[in-house]
Amino acid sequence: MRSESPPRSHDDIPLAQLASHDISLLTFLLTTCARMKPLQTSSGELLADRRADFAEFLFASQDYGEAAELMMSALELAPNWSFGWFRLGEFHEAAGAMDPAVEAWRMALKLDPADRVGAALKLQLAGQEQPGMGSTSGFVETLFDQYASSFDKALVGKLDYRVPELLLDAIRAQAGDTSELAIDLGCGTGLMGERLRPFTRNLEGYDISTEMLRKAAAKKLYDRLQKTDLQTMVYSGLPADLVVAADVFIYLGALASVMHLARSMLRPSGLFAFSVERHGGDEEFVLRSSRRYAHSERHVRTLLEDAGFAVLSLTVEAIRRDRDQTLEGLIIVARATPGAAEANLPLPGAGVLL
Ligand SMILES: C[S@@+](CC[C@H](N)C(=O)[O-])C[C@H]1O[C@@H](n2cnc3c(N)ncnc32)[C@H](O)[C@@H]1O
Repeated sequence: MRSESPPRSHDDIPLAQLASHDISLLTFLLTTCARMKPLQTSSGELLADRRADFAEFLFASQDYGEAAELMMSALELAPNWSFGWFRLGEFHEAAGAMDPAVEAWRMALKLDPADRVGAALKLQLAGQEQPGMGSTSGFVETLFDQYASSFDKALVGKLDYRVPELLLDAIRAQAGDTSELAIDLGCGTGLMGERLRPFTRNLEGYDISTEMLRKAAAKKLYDRLQKTDLQTMVYSGLPADLVVAADVFIYLGALASVMHLARSMLRPSGLFAFSVERHGGDEEFVLRSSRRYAHSERHVRTLLEDAGFAVLSLTVEAIRRDRDQTLEGLIIVARATPGAAEANLPLPGAGVLL
């Protein structure tokens, strides 16, 4: 496992990723300031905020060193401001000063252990931590709470997002026309649910983001929606015929526990259909500068076998665009092996029924 190299050029830095699927911090700052209170984009100190605002301006003008200096002077006035430390890290990173960048991200993480800005992922990318270590839940929840209102438009309209249709085609090639119960893991706003609804009597959706779930609920597609973290969830419902995870595992590095979760949800011979971003190297998975994970085919096959699945189909597909590139993914359908141990990791976890 390794991190792909940290971004070096202006084109790679987060502020230049406005077209990216992963909402950038600039978008946070410029378009959703009013809703940013939980992230404390304000330091709470007027003068520190003024300095930070000007630092952002310098950064946007590619004056990275000056931006970092000014942000440091803002942080002298507001030393407990986690978001400010995170941004300072990004300014240093853009200036090519990785040691102070790492120090700043460590400080951001210390001040906000829930890590809503994703400082731990930055540390992984900088080679300071093992990719996939620690939880990304705080970051993902914050990211998608912010992203929910523009998600459908951005993904389908601008990024040629194709995973739901690809998964549906792959599922229909293996399954009958109806299912009693289908479960949509990381259901988001319901783009996959829209495809599944005509083929299942009951449809359940699980997601970590309240705002994404709110959007899904408004579409009235699901019989049940629940806020939960897939990394700690334990399932105690009825056995499902189908479990789907569309474009979700890109936010999880280690997939073993979620594969066991999916197996525990399925009846014997039930289907598990999901996508990953494809990684063609030798590592099991890598963290990309987009702060999403990509997994190798071999690793995914091993994990499936270990969790009690037999692969029915696996294809390499263009799943969406990311900046100017078309991203390759794996579209996989596996069958729960009859008689395999009902693997279920005993992890605590619970959610709130919407
Ligand atoms: C790219 S969106 C895809 C949404 C939907 N599956 C679709 O195809 O439109 C990824 C979704 O996975 C959810 N997610 C990511 N990590 C999660 C976790 N650990 N637990 C629950 N949901 C998670 C996010 O909140 C987000 O709604």
